[in-house]
Amino acid sequence: MGPLVGAIDEGTSSARFILFKAGTAEIVASHQQELPQIHPQEGWVEQDPMEIISCVQTCIENTIDKLIAKGGSVNDIVSVGVTNQRESTVLWDKTTGEPLYNSIVWLDVRTSTTVDVLLDRVPNKSRNKNYLKPLCGLPLSPYFSAVKIKWLQDNIPKVKKAMETGNCLFGTIDSWLIWNLTGGKNGGIHITDPTNASRTMLMNIETLKWDPVLINFFEIPSNILPTIKSSSEVYGTIAEGSLRGVKVAGCLGDQQSALVGQQCLNRGQAKATYGTGCFLLYNTGPLKVHSSHGLLTTVAYQLGPDRPPIYALEGSVAIAGAALNWLRDNLRVLPSFGHAQEIAEKASEVEAGEVYFVPAFSGLYAPYWQQEARGVIVGISDDTESCHIVKATLEAVCFQTRDILEAMISDYGAPLLNLQVDGGMTANQLLMQMQSDLAGTTIVRPSMAESTALGAAMAAGAAVGHWNIDGPPLNIPSTRWTPQGTEDERDVKYSRWKMAVEKAMGWEM
Ligand code: G3P
Repeated sequence: MGPLVGAIDEGTSSARFILFKAGTAEIVASHQQELPQIHPQEGWVEQDPMEIISCVQTCIENTIDKLIAKGGSVNDIVSVGVTNQRESTVLWDKTTGEPLYNSIVWLDVRTSTTVDVLLDRVPNKSRNKNYLKPLCGLPLSPYFSAVKIKWLQDNIPKVKKAMETGNCLFGTIDSWLIWNLTGGKNGGIHITDPTNASRTMLMNIETLKWDPVLINFFEIPSNILPTIKSSSEVYGTIAEGSLRGVKVAGCLGDQQSALVGQQCLNRGQAKATYGTGCFLLYNTGPLKVHSSHGLLTTVAYQLGPDRPPIYALEGSVAIAGAALNWLRDNLRVLPSFGHAQEIAEKASEVEAGEVYFVPAFSGLYAPYWQQEARGVIVGISDDTESCHIVKATLEAVCFQTRDILEAMISDYGAPLLNLQVDGGMTANQLLMQMQSDLAGTTIVRPSMAESTALGAAMAAGAAVGHWNIDGPPLNIPSTRWTPQGTEDERDVKYSRWKMAVEKAMGWEM
């Protein structure tokens, strides 16, 4: 079967393990398992860190069973890469290996009050949420890990105690997984990479090191932090299970990994991944572009310890697929599993009437960064039916993407030639055409849907000499959607969307 490279893709709603033929986008075996979320209070989103580990282990073991059933062998696996939901925060006790609290998931907004208190620390009473942005690329927001660590330190006595006794370790999900895979309390490796570290607010975006100014601002003990290694190098070996002895050699946050897997490895290339949220990353090469339009400066990848970091501008949208889940689970206007075809059929029932839905369930991320904003639906008349709301939900995903594209063009100057897309929602052809029409951009979707896992496999394969990242791009067939309708039509609709956003932002409880 030849050398194989594995990718663990631990996302917000599911985990999967995928084996690729080294140097290709060919999937040999894979297994996926859903991962539940815990909602102890409104706006709180947690996951059980032990459940994350066992879910990943189940995916690995089932994939290996499938590999063996196909006549393959574990001995063919040369390395494994990890890619993960970013920002979600785990603190654990290094002597027992026990989590000190559930993972606080990136979407969680309990830390709004923590952000308020932190804003008081900004000099000159300016409460400027961009005060730390020149150092870390990010605004103060409940989204990022340092704010979640702060909340845990202030509110969970076990955490405070473990920090005082030097037993506490912090990790985003990559660190938590790699520590456990490489032995846990019996010698596990405590590392992260610059893509994940660049989402904590604690790493200096220039030096790629933990920054004392940032650490002091949040008053977090520096001994809880993992070592930052490049995204592609051998970190250690797996300690147990079917993959015992296999090298862990790649690590990337999932959105950056999708950028790599989409082979957006040149300056000016961009991708959008439509999952729970929607994340657009625009490769700016070795140049850090500081956005004046609400985008984040983030590390795109550093594919080897001796290679320079490559940066990206990122536009993060909190609610994309999650809005369809809300239609299905809360409003019950979609079939039970919200299948792409059924969503499209429901949305295409619309003949007239314009409804706009801003799904600001937990505030708005880029480019607005308004944690107080809340969802609004406007334009309802007595003709409005559920299909209008479904269509407005799909359009909301497209308008939010256009918001980000506009900000990227303003920051970077040049419009995109096309936007490469991936993620579950891209199976919906109607959505893809809508996206092209409403943004006025050509949309390109590769036929191989697992861009996120592919990126981690590329990093892990390269680290052990089984993937030539500098070679010609992989030849992956793709489908294209080109914009229909006129510039005027899309601009009129977009200006109405902006009016709806104003209403969402004006909503104060
Ligand atoms: O920043 C959050 C992002 O990494 C989550 O991605 O695909 O798990 O929703 P996903």
